Amino acid sequence: MNNYYKHLASVDQEVYSYVKMELERQRNTIGLIASENYASLAVLEALATPLNNKYAEGYPNKRYYAGNKIIDSIESIAIDRVKKLFDAEHANVQPHAGATANMSVYLATLNLGDKILALELAHGGHLTHGSNVNFSGAAYKFVHYHLDKETGLIDFEEVRKLALEHKPKMILCGYSAYPRKIDFKRFREIADEVNAILFADIAHIAGLVAGKAHENPFPYADIVSSTTHKTLRGPRGAIILCKEKFAKAIDKAVFPGTQGGPFEHCIAAKAVCFKEALQPEFKEYTRQIVKNAQAMAEEFINLGYSLVTNGTDNHLLLVDLVKSKLKVFGKEAQEKLESVGIICNRNMVPYDTRSPFDPSGIRLGTPMITTRNMKESESRYIAELVDKTLKTESKTELERIHENVLDLSSKFPLYKDLVL
Ligand SMILES: Cc1ncc(COP(=O)(O)O)c(C=O)c1O
Repeated sequence: MNNYYKHLASVDQEVYSYVKMELERQRNTIGLIASENYASLAVLEALATPLNNKYAEGYPNKRYYAGNKIIDSIESIAIDRVKKLFDAEHANVQPHAGATANMSVYLATLNLGDKILALELAHGGHLTHGSNVNFSGAAYKFVHYHLDKETGLIDFEEVRKLALEHKPKMILCGYSAYPRKIDFKRFREIADEVNAILFADIAHIAGLVAGKAHENPFPYADIVSSTTHKTLRGPRGAIILCKEKFAKAIDKAVFPGTQGGPFEHCIAAKAVCFKEALQPEFKEYTRQIVKNAQAMAEEFINLGYSLVTNGTDNHLLLVDLVKSKLKVFGKEAQEKLESVGIICNRNMVPYDTRSPFDPSGIRLGTPMITTRNMKESESRYIAELVDKTLKTESKTELERIHENVLDLSSKFPLYKDLVL
């Protein structure tokens, strides 16, 4: 078989060799980062096309430059497919990333300084949901709701109380580290009471929504943003979906509001990803993601661990290492796991008393292992390997666990057709 990247190899050995090393790293580790996935080779091929070369400022049939008829067809296919996938009235497929998508949503609907009610970052929200180190916190006035201290679930009483008190122009739901289902209807009811726009950022759960393993935010939400590279398993990038009434404002906010020329090669790859997500197999895939997360959660609980909300309904679990009475915390746990080839990220837990740099928890997700065809038994086995890693001090034991990780990885090969 030909070398997949033969031109890259001949022009730039340095970059090529790092690509090769990164591919090997992905093949030989167990990826548990809840926000990552392995896009298909079809998606990766679409990214590496001459569509990269075209400037297409504007929208299909309304471009500023000539030569865009074919590009128009591609972007229109992406729009049609994603509208079907999420039952959306309008779609913009141009956002380069989740962060710029959210920036565009705010720009389209709010004035600077307007109030937004969103989940506290440390409880599972995202930087673009009002963190003071992010543009969102600087440009808008965020009021934050929290998770219930006992249950770890969204405290709807507080959401309603804060909504009635502050009368926000927008209510935001959708999170980076929340292991339970989101009750969009309940948010809609509260938004209606105060006449707020309901914005759902489903960056994490979009794949589950597409595969019907999580409820669709439509018809409850007015606007929905999402990344395309997490559970949706597409290229890096994002989308904004909305009710027709917001369509013009959203399109204007993306271009020329926050972006210039769209990345049409990414848009082609998004179209491929949407096609894949429309297939019946994708439903199976997303159900398996949840089954794997639940099996992993169950195993952790059997091993005596404490999980935020005591389990999961979606693709991720949050392990509270402090409540689990472990001697390692977020930073060391992440590093120790990396040393045996298990890749995850440290994470704050609700009401964390430790710092974001070395928080009390780790976040574990199953989208990647599920893409590699692992099932419940492998998910349980991975929980055991995590447990052994966190509890041992022995170098030989850690080496043995690393062997187990390599063995498991080789049984579930990644990108078999990619020959470098
Ligand atoms: C809920 C949520 N929104 C937005 C984003 C931002 O996406 P990006 O990293 O593509 O800017 C993320 C990324 O993790 C996220 O979790």
